[in-house]
Amino acid sequence: MRALITGGAGFIGANFVHRARATRPDWQITVVDALTYAGNVDNLAPVADDITFVHGNLADADLVDSLVADADVVVHFAAESHNDNSLDDPWPFVESNLIGTFRVLEAVRRHGVRLHHISTDEVYGDLALDDPERFTESTPVNPSSPYSSTKAGADLLVRAWVRSFGIEATLSNCSNNYGPYQHVEKLIPRQITGIIDGVKPKLYGTGENVRDWIHVDDHNDAVITIVERGRPGETYLIGADGERSNREIIALLLDLMDKPADWFEHVNDRPGHDLRYAIDSSKLRTETGWEPRYHDIRAGLAATIAWYREHEDWWRAAKGDTEARYARLGR
Ligand code: NAD
Ligand code: DAU
Repeated sequence: MRALITGGAGFIGANFVHRARATRPDWQITVVDALTYAGNVDNLAPVADDITFVHGNLADADLVDSLVADADVVVHFAAESHNDNSLDDPWPFVESNLIGTFRVLEAVRRHGVRLHHISTDEVYGDLALDDPERFTESTPVNPSSPYSSTKAGADLLVRAWVRSFGIEATLSNCSNNYGPYQHVEKLIPRQITGIIDGVKPKLYGTGENVRDWIHVDDHNDAVITIVERGRPGETYLIGADGERSNREIIALLLDLMDKPADWFEHVNDRPGHDLRYAIDSSKLRTETGWEPRYHDIRAGLAATIAWYREHEDWWRAAKGDTEARYARLGR
């Protein structure tokens, strides 16, 4: 199978390429990536000889058309992905997430190519801390930030192209990923690399906000499963029952990195900060048999800490710019 992976030099996309190479050696993989500040071609270095890498932007309709014409399936990860950036400057989110997805949709429509669209649980808004319900595929979209609203818009475009133009597409909405190659702007790598540098973790607001953590390999195994066995036109929620408050995550990191439990500081809250995400992934599990393999978040975080300790050369260059941006935002 010829698979075109958009955004394959980013965090989840690069891990996807590694996972697909390891578990689906017969796939012929092409990656297209604009190499924004979040993309790093070195993420693909271990598989560089086995894949084709194309440096390009989804805004380039001719490029997207020619790449899609040569594919059997497109797995569409490319997006601007960080909420704080979207609150600072929304335009790149409109451009990559909405217009970029539009370009992909038009190309798969023209060439009759199968699409899997990667999305987020954030399209559903947030839940109260004590709400017994979790997000399901029938939860109405209700996004809060420019990031999540452009992702919700992209999801709706995909659904419209399925219904009105008959493209063969599946969608998945996943919860918060952690693991290697995640940019230092995100909660877990920011705090790990900060602690390595002797800087206290920074907790937005009260820190009671809850995220539903999943290891990136579990996410990507679910995506491979949906590509192979998902029903066309369907949406699948991906989650691993990993709800933890931000306070709990920071407490785990401090403990694993031999720092006192109170060695963190509260900083300004994120505007419109979603309170809680929680995923019910029973549709995916029942229909396909997929199950997460990483059940112990403490062990998963310990391995992630070890990866950042061993790959300082990978993250060091991005750390200064990232913290300068946070300083400007007061976070
Ligand atoms: P990331 O920011 O680490 O990587 C995004 C990649 O897309 C980068 O390599 C970037 O260069 C590329 N890109 C951005 N705009 C592009 C464009 N116009 N053309 C070509 N390439 C472009 O993001 P991530 O965390 O790996 O997220 C990947 C996907 O997964 C996104 O669609 C995101 O919405 C979704 N998602 C992320 C999470 C999470 O926890 N990180 C959870 C659920 C869903
Ligand atoms: O739920 C899926 C989403 O998870 C993805 O769609 C996004 O692409 C991904 O970035 C992530 O979004 P979040 O906004 O939840 O992730 P982030 O790592 O930015 O923040 C996680 C939580 O931690 C959130 O409640 C904000 C808080 N936070 C974040 C940072 C960077 C802090 O308290 N301190 C920090 O320094």
